[in-house]
Amino acid sequence: MTAGIPSIAAQPKIFTENYLVMTREGIRGNDAMQGLLKSVPDREIVALAVYFSKLTARKPDGAVDKTLFARGKQVAAQNRCATCHERDFRGREQMPRLAGQREDFLAEAMLAYRQYRRPGGDTLMAAALYGISEPDLKALAHYLSRVK
Ligand code: HEC
Repeated sequence: MTAGIPSIAAQPKIFTENYLVMTREGIRGNDAMQGLLKSVPDREIVALAVYFSKLTARKPDGAVDKTLFARGKQVAAQNRCATCHERDFRGREQMPRLAGQREDFLAEAMLAYRQYRRPGGDTLMAAALYGISEPDLKALAHYLSRVK
C-alpha cells in the first residue's frame, strides 16, 4: 500500500525467487533490499516465495479513467503483453503478476526497462516496450492497475 513499492501478494513463486536471489547477489533490486537479504539462505528464500505466492492478490482500487483504461487495454492487446503475463495478467513462472499492481510502480518499472536502468532487468521486457510512447505507457499502467 506504500507509494512506489510493489504489491508482492500472489506473485508467481519463480518470479519472487529469482528476484530475491538476484537482489541478494547484488545483480538487481536496490541497496535497502540487498541489505535485508544478505544473510537469508536459499531455503528461506524458497519459503518466502511460496508464502507470497499463496496470498490473495491486491484488489484493484482507485477511480477508473475510462479513456485511459480503454487506451491501455488496446495497447496491451496490440503488443501481446498477455502472451507472457497471461490473459488476466496474473503472471506465471518468471513473469510477474501485473493485474492490480500499483499504478505508480508499473509506470516507473516500464520507463526504467525502456531506458535500460532497471538493474538485472529482463531484455525481453525492454524489447516488449520498444516503440511505445510515454503517454501509452501511462495508459498501460492505468489499465493494468485496475484490470480484474
Ligand atoms: C516475452 C515475454 C514478455 C512479454 C511479451 C511482455 N513481458 Fe512484461 N515481463 C516479462 C518478464 C520475464 C518479466 C520479469 C522480468 C524481470 O524480472 O525483470 C516482466 C516484467 C514486467 C513488468 C515489471 C513488473 C514487476 O513487478 O517488476 C512490467 C510492468 C511488465 N512486464 C509489463 C509488460 C507490458 C505492459 C507488456 C506489453 C507491452 C509486457 N510486459 C510484455 C515478460 C514479458
